[in-house]
This record gives sequence, C-alpha cells and structure tokens, in this order.
Amino acid sequence: MSPSPDQVLLQLEGVAKSYVMGAVTVPALKPSTFAVRSGEFLMVLGPSGSGKTTLLNLVGGIDTPTAGRLLFRGEDLAQMADAELTSYRRYRVGFVFQFFNLVPTLTALENVQLVADLVDEPLDALETLDTVGLGDRANHFPSELSGGEQQRVAIARAMVKRPALLLADEPTGNLDFETGIRVLTVLTDLSRQSGTTTIVVTHNSVLAGIADRVLRMRSGEIVEVEEQPHPISPDEVRW
Ligand SMILES: Nc1ncnc2c1ncn2[C@@H]1O[C@H](COP(=O)(O)OP(=O)(O)OP(=O)(O)O)[C@@H](O)[C@H]1O
Ligand SMILES: [Mg+2]
Repeated sequence: MSPSPDQVLLQLEGVAKSYVMGAVTVPALKPSTFAVRSGEFLMVLGPSGSGKTTLLNLVGGIDTPTAGRLLFRGEDLAQMADAELTSYRRYRVGFVFQFFNLVPTLTALENVQLVADLVDEPLDALETLDTVGLGDRANHFPSELSGGEQQRVAIARAMVKRPALLLADEPTGNLDFETGIRVLTVLTDLSRQSGTTTIVVTHNSVLAGIADRVLRMRSGEIVEVEEQPHPISPDEVRW
C-alpha cells in the first residue's frame, strides 16, 4: 500500500548517483523510487559499498543526484536556489556521523549551543543534553567523554534544532555493542517522542528489529523494503 501524499515527507523518484572515475563509471546508487514517511524510524541496511551513505547524503541535500528527483514536502531539492538548499540542510535536517565530529575545543554544552544558535526556534541546549542523559556532563570537553557519550552529544546537537529529518550514518559503528544499544535507545526514544522522521544507516542486521521499516540495499540498489508493525526496543536486541 503506498502512503497518502500527506504522509510522505520525502519522495525519491528514480534518484541515482554515479561517479565517473576516468573511463569507469561507478553506479553508487541505481535509479531508486521510494517514499520516506513522516514520523517513521527507517533503517537502511546493506554491506559495505552498497550505497547507504550515498543515499543518506542525497536525502540530506549534501550531495546531488545525477538522475531523478528528490521532493521534500513536494518541493524538488534540485529546483531550490542555493540559499534555499542551505536552509533545507540547516533547518530541516539533523546529521549524526559515525565519528562524532564534535568541536574538540568546546564543551558538550557549547557544541550543542553552537548548532542551536543557527536556527530560530531551537530546543534548550542543556535540556537536550539532559534528554540524552548527559545533563551532568555539560561542561566536559569531548576528550573527557567516552565514545558513547560523545555520540550522544552528537545526537543532542542534531536534535536541538528540531529537524524534520534526523539522519544518522553508522551512529554505532564506532561503539561497542552495549554502548551502541544505549545510543540507539536515545535515538528511538527521541524520534518516537517528538515524531521526528529518522533514518539510521547500519551494516549490522541484528539491529533491524528496532525500526518501523527496513530498507535493504545491495550493489547500489534498494532490494527490499520490509514493514515492521511491532518494532522491538533496542534493549531487546540479541545477537
Ligand atoms: N566520492 C566518490 N567517488 C567515487 N566513488 C564513490 C564515491 N563515494 C562513494 N563511491 C562508491 O560508491 C559506492 C557506494 O558507496 P557508499 O559510501 O554509499 O557505500 P556504503 O554502503 O555507505 O558503504 P560502507 O558501509 O562501507 O560505509 C562504493 O562502490 C563506493 O566506492
Ligand atoms: Mg557508508
């Protein structure tokens, strides 16, 4: 069943990305048609090189497709003026990367505040740190935090601007399993409480059960989209 238009946050229509490397063309993403639904927790699974990051970067407007169209609330990203695309990235999209990307010379709170200051109606930076369980670490520098704590600061930083779309590329890829589960719990809680549409990329298929839908990729193609009417909570994930 295809979702009704008002349930669609982002529509991909034949979206593709190729890289030309001399005489060789690498089809990182083959033409893909897919609707991201408002409020869903979507997980993108696939082996290394299958096109997961390419897909996420296209969706987040930090990369442009070589074919097809991306419609955010019906508006074609490619038709947006530069300023509008910048504002899409700044106001609508929150990014969480595998390597936390925190500013080392700023405290946890300052890292979050930096992003809050970019937008008109941010959440309170300290409250957001509190939400990810780090209210008491606000004045710590990244080097004084564990990997999982740094990643939770990165999530707070992405959430503080109240994005319509939260994108996380291997947010647990650099963490041990237990810490990864803790980070995913923060992500699922935040997304379900605030209704933020969330896309998490991972190559770890044991995590699939926590998502509303799972999109599987192989060799640059979306090969399967699976509905999960009863997602489990991250602490129920078993190896
Ligand atoms: N800037 C680039 N130039 C050329 N080829 C690229 C570039 N970025 C990605 N590719 C190629 O596109 C394909 C998909 O890459 P992508 O980074 O999307 O994979 P991935 O699924 O995220 O992999 P991983 O799990 O290792 O992060 C790969 O074959 C990769 O080598
Ligand atoms: Mg990747």
